[in-house]
Amino acid sequence: MSEQGLFISFEGIDGAGKSTHIAALAEAFRAAGRTLTLTREPGGTPLAEKLRVMVLNDAMDPLTEALIIFAARRDHLQSVITPALQRGEVVLCDRFTDATFAYQGAGRGFDTHVLHTLEQWVQAVPNSNASAAQTAKAEPLLQQPDLTVWFDLAPEEAAQRLAGARLPDKFESQPVAFFKRVADGYASRMQADPQRFARINAAQAREAVWLDVRQVFVSKGWL
Ligand code: TMP
Repeated sequence: MSEQGLFISFEGIDGAGKSTHIAALAEAFRAAGRTLTLTREPGGTPLAEKLRVMVLNDAMDPLTEALIIFAARRDHLQSVITPALQRGEVVLCDRFTDATFAYQGAGRGFDTHVLHTLEQWVQAVPNSNASAAQTAKAEPLLQQPDLTVWFDLAPEEAAQRLAGARLPDKFESQPVAFFKRVADGYASRMQADPQRFARINAAQAREAVWLDVRQVFVSKGWL
């Protein structure tokens, strides 16, 4: 019997420490016999990785930034995420649309109505793929992660962890006040769709964070 695809995203402000746990989860899923697609945003395809370099390094106005991020996301969904889910794989995606609402929306103060419109254009699931019950729903069906793991860490603590690390990019070099808004943005996204989120206290020691992350997947019966 073929397994059902699982789409998991990982979120948090820069410095929250998600990378090591994504790698550990990938290992755990492989050990459980699942086929994985490990990917990230912005990026995940040759085109989207080119767009990532622009987004992280070039100055641009907020609408341009949002359009490029969603263009990258469209290519990523079409060429990587949707096909992998159709093959029944586990897709572990380092950031997805919640990051756009948190960074561009809350962090930069860009119009979230525009972000919602772009989200609907880019992530709309074609009616042919939707069940009758889904089609009957008033709102359009969007491709969203089955689960979003949010590594929640105070911006002051994240800034300390990032200090002295590699040369910061356009976002990493933002002040703590920016990351406070970003963290609030994540909290709002979780409030709007609490079932989809697992909030992890990322201030704990790394091993304790990992145990919490693992427990989320065990309790869902996915590991
Ligand atoms: P990363 O360093 O975790 O790979 O993330 C890249 C940076 O891009 C990070 O600072 C957050 C930012 N970003 C946005 O501003 N908007 C988005 O939609 C995404 C996916 C990332």
